Amino acid sequence: MTFPVITIDGTSGVGKGTISSMLASHLQWHYLDSGALYRITAYTALKKGIDLANEQAITDLANSLSISFLASGEILVDKYDISSAIRTEQVGMSASKVATYPKLRKALFNKQRSFLKAPGLVADGRDMGTTIFPDAKLKIFLTASAEERGKRRYKQLKDKETHAIMPSSNLLQKNDLDLSDIIRKIEQRDHQDMNRASSPLKPADDAVIIDTTLLTINDVFNQVLTLLNKSE
Ligand code: DC
Repeated sequence: MTFPVITIDGTSGVGKGTISSMLASHLQWHYLDSGALYRITAYTALKKGIDLANEQAITDLANSLSISFLASGEILVDKYDISSAIRTEQVGMSASKVATYPKLRKALFNKQRSFLKAPGLVADGRDMGTTIFPDAKLKIFLTASAEERGKRRYKQLKDKETHAIMPSSNLLQKNDLDLSDIIRKIEQRDHQDMNRASSPLKPADDAVIIDTTLLTINDVFNQVLTLLNKSE
């Protein structure tokens, strides 16, 4: 018995997470944020002082972690909520680095597949449509110019700082609020994710590509729903 899957892949900061969670809650399906698994691995390695260049040690670490995704959005690793701590740029870049390791990707394969439960799954990442769920009923690949993604990220960080209880909270680091630096980091991460040998970031042959540069979140959400209805 298998259940339907919608995959939402694409570049960093393109809004995959927002669209995927909107879709999952609209359909009342499960949601897999696969990037969080790479982020958790990188974050825990940084915390424990494990060398990010050591593929075997990073893979062993990933295999040893007990991770719970709660409905509230909290992510517990060994009982600690690390949902905010894994969202920094530094963790994103480190996640992209460890994500180049074939052993780690193999170790996370079954973990990701285990999210597929009734009545269905929305899976967000870089290789959901190409590698993890090649039989998905609908595959979406989201793109937007690096400039536009940078601007969106900048606005998010600005809002976060404005609303933080303590301005310049520990989520923000030097350069985090420099737009050209944000765009440069986005381009670096795209380059690393697209050019790795193991499951590189690319659209599946049967994916529908949506360029969101000039679209709102609601435009994208409605387009995906229309595509889903057509695929029924
Ligand atoms: O989606 P994200 O920004 O949280 O992902 C962080 C990094 O993890 C991303 O730059 C590359 C890696 N990743 C991956 O290689 N494969 C996935 N399915 C998801 C993320």
